[in-house]
Amino acid sequence: MDSASAKANKAAAKLVVGNWKLHGSLAANAELLARLLASPVLAQGRAVTAVCVPFPYLAQCQQLLGGSPLAWGAQDVSAEINGAFTGEVSAPMIGEFGSSYVLVGHSERRAYHGETDALVAAKTGRVLAAGMTPIVCVGETLAQRDAGQTDAVVERQLGAVLAALDVPQAARIVVAYEPVWAIGTGKTATREQAQAVHERLRAQLAAKGGEVAAVKILYGGSVKPDNAADLFAMPDIDGGLIGGASLKAEDFLAICGAA
Ligand code: 13P
Repeated sequence: MDSASAKANKAAAKLVVGNWKLHGSLAANAELLARLLASPVLAQGRAVTAVCVPFPYLAQCQQLLGGSPLAWGAQDVSAEINGAFTGEVSAPMIGEFGSSYVLVGHSERRAYHGETDALVAAKTGRVLAAGMTPIVCVGETLAQRDAGQTDAVVERQLGAVLAALDVPQAARIVVAYEPVWAIGTGKTATREQAQAVHERLRAQLAAKGGEVAAVKILYGGSVKPDNAADLFAMPDIDGGLIGGASLKAEDFLAICGAA
């Protein structure tokens, strides 16, 4: 890793993003968000924080989180802008609700909805064009890790996105490394395993252009209050993408506080 970029990056605030996945209700969200905002942790601003919620709750987030330190966004986006695409939600629509972030290429989208690298690249471009930050998710399955393919898989996934962007666009993305075998399983990558992959991803970003080296690389996969500080201490881990623990106010706050 280029040590100058690593140092510059280390000095920058961590980014901690909750991914609610398919969870929530108006009542449950209101309670969770009120508990998050009541704590001094987010206002201290040591980390940049956000939640990515199901589409119908973007309006609620805009109403309850506007002017607060907690940003919000969506978990997916259409690769189309408008037209006869029943069920799709476009980037400009997501942007209308004050969203800052959109997850693209989450492993659950790739696995259950057949999302390809090319589709993920197209979605990334739509999010950027709408003025939001795409969080591009990459990660290998256990079989791929066991076959020694981890680096090749994540480099292919990120490479498809970088190839579709120019340097200023690429500098505006966030990357999330989420090993599929660590998601929702309670099996976290060790901080050394995560750092090794993040270092490869950092080199790939840097090869795109100097300013791209500072792109934040989040780790996701069973991040909990008891392992967050350890992970966040690694030089190329710039924050976390938090699934299950983001649904519990105390846990999410503890993870934000560890950043
Ligand atoms: P868990 O934190 O529940 O393992 O989920 C990680 C994830 O997929 C976040 O996008």
